[in-house]
Amino acid sequence: MFPEHRPRRLRSTPAMRRMVSETTLRPHQLILPLFVAEAASEPRPISSMPGVVQHTRETVRKAAADAVEAGVGGLMLFGIPETHDATGSAATDADGILNATLRDLRSDLGDDTVLMADTCLDEFTDHGHCGVLDSAGAVDNDATLERYAEMALAQAEAGAHLLGPSGMMDGQVGVIRRALDDAGYSETGILAYSAKYASAFYGPFREAVDSQLRGDRKTYQQDPANAREALREIELDIAEGADIVMVKPALAYLDIVKAAAEVSPVPVAAYNISGEYSMVEGAAANGWIDRERTILEVLTSIRRAGADLVLTYWAAEVAGWLD
Ligand code: PBG
Repeated sequence: MFPEHRPRRLRSTPAMRRMVSETTLRPHQLILPLFVAEAASEPRPISSMPGVVQHTRETVRKAAADAVEAGVGGLMLFGIPETHDATGSAATDADGILNATLRDLRSDLGDDTVLMADTCLDEFTDHGHCGVLDSAGAVDNDATLERYAEMALAQAEAGAHLLGPSGMMDGQVGVIRRALDDAGYSETGILAYSAKYASAFYGPFREAVDSQLRGDRKTYQQDPANAREALREIELDIAEGADIVMVKPALAYLDIVKAAAEVSPVPVAAYNISGEYSMVEGAAANGWIDRERTILEVLTSIRRAGADLVLTYWAAEVAGWLD
């Protein structure tokens, strides 16, 4: 007890604090999400996400190359098609905006980065749901899996290293794994959005991808009140062949990140999502918080909770600070 015990000794100088620092934040641990819009003729600002844009097929190439140059671990691509329909046809069209961009970036960057894509239909459907609907208007799990398998093959063919199924359909990882293996894409991996919650923090993302959604995703995304089912989802995804599992959102779910890190035999990612980004940007723009310190604290906290990887819209900028 005091006075023998004085924890402040280990905080007394910058060198002392550096020596006993437990959590690292390195560029390769950060993954940059990028938006590319088919109809854009120049980068379009996303008003609810200051600093983030919808790229054109051309401008995304430079943004991607710059991020890789800055040292980020990988890129997660989202496509915004010009036309939407009930089954999200543009998602499986080899010339659709997402697949075309994947092909561009793979040819530009080769294996210099880890190229990932959102394997989900919501950006492509006219109803904005992550799957196809049955005659009653409900999201049809098993019919959606067939579309995911097709989408996975299109993305693998276009050059994605890792696919990111984010639709929270039961069985999605297993179906995608089998489809990839049967087509000879055994080297293409799966970053599974395993524990994904029905969160209000996705708000700004809806603008980012011109989402057509009315209603909500509560029949497929998890209830924020629940922790147990996150572990069940993670176990199932690992059994189905996930190479990496993800928890999303990150900040309000750090307990889930920690629980995942404790049990997972594969790397754990966490997605620091749009609303988390915009809260910090909004407060910083008002002068209410120190932007740079807050960003580093947010990302360090997600790492401290146990995430090996963090998807963040700040990835390229922060990678630059860390070097
Ligand atoms: C679904 C998807 C979403 C996000 C990533 N993939 C939206 C949703 O589930 O409603 C959200 C990312 C963010 O908010 O930053 N394709």
